[in-house]
Amino acid sequence: MTAPLAQVADIEDGHSKGFDPLGEGRDTMFIVRRGEALFGWRNACPHYDHARMAWKKDEFLTGDRARIVCGAHGAQFEIDTGLCVLGPCLGDRLTAVALEVRDGAIFLAAPYAPGLRPRMGRAHH
Ligand code: FES
Repeated sequence: MTAPLAQVADIEDGHSKGFDPLGEGRDTMFIVRRGEALFGWRNACPHYDHARMAWKKDEFLTGDRARIVCGAHGAQFEIDTGLCVLGPCLGDRLTAVALEVRDGAIFLAAPYAPGLRPRMGRAHH
């Protein structure tokens, strides 16, 4: 049996937290908690080359914690759908990470691929 990512109680209600399920040395996904609801997303912005999104460790949300925000160019995403509603990737979506909660512990509910590294040398736009 695989180990849990975390306990639900480890994530403060209304906040986000990054995780590195495969031990790649960086957070390749994050979870947002709203009450008992948990939303898992890959830490890969659809705008630009799978960019990492947190502007600071575990900080994936806007100041009012109403949306997910990408620290690179400020794209904002709905917490529950991952839809980009503001910014350069309008209409694109984050990639969901299926989660399962058992006895207060959070597990990955599906096989998990390594994080994609940003490609080097590509023009930024
Ligand atoms: S890389 Fe996320 S908004 Fe540009």
